[in-house]
Amino acid sequence: MSIKLSIVSTDPLSVDADVAVIGVPEGASTKEGILADLERALGPVVAKAVKREDFTGKKDQTLDLHTNDAIKASRVLLIGLGKATLADADVRLLASKGARFALGAKAESLAIVLPEGTSGSGAVRAAAEGVVLGSYRFNAFQTGDRLPKVQLSRATLVARSKVAKADRDAMALGQKIGESVCIARDLINTPPNELYPEMLARAAQDVAKANNLKVTVFDKAALTKRGMHLFVAVAQGSARDPRMVHMTYTPAKPTKKKIVFVGKGLTFDSGGLCIKPAPGMEEMKGDMGGAANVIALMAAVAAVKPSVEVHGIIGCAENMPDGAAYRPGDIFKSLDGKTVEIINTDAEGRLVLADCLAYARSLKPDLILDNATLTGACVVALGTTVSGYYSNRDELADAFRRAAKTAGEATWHMPLVEELREGLKSDWADLKHTADRWGGSITAALFLREFVGDVPWIHVDIAGPSMANKAYGIYPKGGTGHGVLTFLQLIDQLASS
Ligand code: BES
Ligand code: MN
Ligand code: ZN
Repeated sequence: MSIKLSIVSTDPLSVDADVAVIGVPEGASTKEGILADLERALGPVVAKAVKREDFTGKKDQTLDLHTNDAIKASRVLLIGLGKATLADADVRLLASKGARFALGAKAESLAIVLPEGTSGSGAVRAAAEGVVLGSYRFNAFQTGDRLPKVQLSRATLVARSKVAKADRDAMALGQKIGESVCIARDLINTPPNELYPEMLARAAQDVAKANNLKVTVFDKAALTKRGMHLFVAVAQGSARDPRMVHMTYTPAKPTKKKIVFVGKGLTFDSGGLCIKPAPGMEEMKGDMGGAANVIALMAAVAAVKPSVEVHGIIGCAENMPDGAAYRPGDIFKSLDGKTVEIINTDAEGRLVLADCLAYARSLKPDLILDNATLTGACVVALGTTVSGYYSNRDELADAFRRAAKTAGEATWHMPLVEELREGLKSDWADLKHTADRWGGSITAALFLREFVGDVPWIHVDIAGPSMANKAYGIYPKGGTGHGVLTFLQLIDQLASS
């Protein structure tokens, strides 16, 4: 059930909701503004609490006030806004934190007061996104007492000025975008016995159908026939056959600009014959985070309706050890004709992506962006909250950096170190798919680069932030959808350039 959102212009303290969330600019005092209003409504407890907690509105400071029913809301959460002017991403974050607080408070309804100084549809959209992203929970596999007893079913955005139709439209769009990101989260969180390649492909089909996108699914026979032997090799040890899905969004007005997004969709990565250690292996249900992001992005694109053509390609497979599994030493031909010697069957993602990238290239796009939970090395380099991106064009790397900053997502530009290319030379085939341990995220990127030719390309390694071991920012524990908002912003930039 999706949350019911509305937007009103009213006194923040009179709004009918269990929890009210109010941003407070730094330097606020109970002598004026919102804190004074609160003091008037709730009495001296406000000044006391402000003093006790030394609440001055510093960025990310919070103050949780119980109202004892002096106003409609039983809890008021004050969130420090700091001194800087607020960007849309800050509004999204505020709404998200507010919604997560409301979940913790077992509230049924929530009010987010849009901070002073924010206006326009960007802020409204961001607030709606934040509410949806912050109130996300995944309970599909819990029963009885393990299920939450209260649903956060209603949220009200409290605007500073008169609400116009543009605001209501922005709110509806924000909700749709937030819900799109949650599609990625749901898919990542779904266990691998339920979400195998065929089901991931079906999820993509469902999203395409619901959003009037064109969709084509390739089964194992079709992949083999096309010559995507690297992709098929990865899947050959699994009882579950692979799938590739190609989704297309075509804008109403014809355009020449074409962007292709590619996602790694390993519904489970055991490592194959080069099997992973048991501790933490369950997390490899999330090895389809890149594909989940692409599906989510296509849903968001259908809502935003940008003026560029957008394609989404996902490579769905399961990497398992078996008598039929691919082995170290095997050599397979890729879609674009290069032969690849297999070294480590746990470096499967780049093999699936190589064929998907070669396929993407045949669409003659202006940009290919792939995203994948590709390497543990990237997590070692950047930690679990930051994705690493690579590009064969400096200006594209710059555009991606700006997109991520606007979207409020943490990313870092990584180098395609040419000296490391040597490590991918094979004695027996055109290429091998892994080099030595050092610079493992870079050599994975260099391997992928072999399959994009001269097409402008961005590769995003989301191995760290695609799943979270605890909630932070706009992200819940588990699948995050980290990257989707950045990709959406990048499309927006490219559409208007
Ligand atoms: N799916 C993993 C990468 C990964 C690690 C994702 C941790 C999320 C969290 C990938 O397929 C993998 O196993 N990569 C290997 C490559 C190595 C064998 C060259 C790795 O990173 O160890
Ligand atoms: Mn692997
Ligand atoms: Zn993997």
